[in-house]
Amino acid sequence: MIVVMLDDIAQFTPSRRPGVWARVSSVVYDPFLWAGERAGVRDLRRELVSKARGRTVEIGAGTGLNLAHYPDDLDELVLVEPDPAMRAQLEKRLSRDGRRARLEGAMAEHLPFADASVDTVVSTFVLCTVDAPDLAAREIARVLRPDGQLLFLEHVRSDSPRLARWQDRLEAPWRGFGRGCRCNRATAELLSTCGLELHDVREASWRGMPPIVRPLVSGWCGRGS
Ligand SMILES: C[S@@+](CC[C@H](N)C(=O)[O-])C[C@H]1O[C@@H](n2cnc3c(N)ncnc32)[C@H](O)[C@@H]1O
Repeated sequence: MIVVMLDDIAQFTPSRRPGVWARVSSVVYDPFLWAGERAGVRDLRRELVSKARGRTVEIGAGTGLNLAHYPDDLDELVLVEPDPAMRAQLEKRLSRDGRRARLEGAMAEHLPFADASVDTVVSTFVLCTVDAPDLAAREIARVLRPDGQLLFLEHVRSDSPRLARWQDRLEAPWRGFGRGCRCNRATAELLSTCGLELHDVREASWRGMPPIVRPLVSGWCGRGS
C-alpha cells in the first residue's frame, strides 16, 4: 500500500490510470479546502475569475472550484487538467452545473495552443505544483495575445524568515501529501523573471489552512515587453 502511494505521489503521467492516493485526494480535495473557501478564498476566486475575458484557458483546473465564477460571455473556456482523477471530478462538476467548457489533459509546461491565441489564462493554486514553473510561465507568455492576461492566485513562500524556514523544513512531507505541491515556492518573483509583468499584486492569508500554505498572492500579469 505504502509503495503504491509513494509511486502515485511521484510525478503522474496524464494517460496513466490514477493510483490510490490520486483517487483519494481528488475526492477529499473539496472537503479539505472547505474551511479555507468559506474563510475568504471563495471571494478571492470570484473577484479574480470574474475578470476573465475572450478565449480563456484555466491551467490545473482541479475539481473546478472556479467554474461558478466565470462570466457567461466568454468566447471559449478551456480547462487544462493533466490528472485523470481530478479530471473525473471536474467532469462531474461540469455536468452538475451545466457549464460549457472544453477539457484538455495537458500540462502547463506544454500547452496545446498556438502562439498569441489566448486572451486570459487562469492559475489558482497550480504554479506551486507544476514541476517546471519557469517553463509553465514561459508557455503562458507564449500563448497569451499581446494584450492578454494571466490571472493568478497562489500560495507562496513567506516573507517572514521564521515561517519560510518552516516551509523549507516541511517541503518534502507536504509535497508528498499535496501531490507535488511546494509550500516554499516564490511564485510571484518567478513569474516576473519569465517574460511576464505583474500588476495589482495583493497579499492575503489563507485562513482555515495550515500556516505553511497561508501566505497568498494574487494579481494579474501581462506579457512583458
Ligand atoms: C492544488 S490543485 C489546484 C486546483 C484548482 N486550480 C483550484 O484552484 O482548486 C493543483 C492542480 O494542478 C494540477 N497540476 C499538477 N501539475 C500540473 C502541470 N504540470 N500542469 C497543469 N496542471 C498541473 C493538479 O493535477 C491539480 O489539479
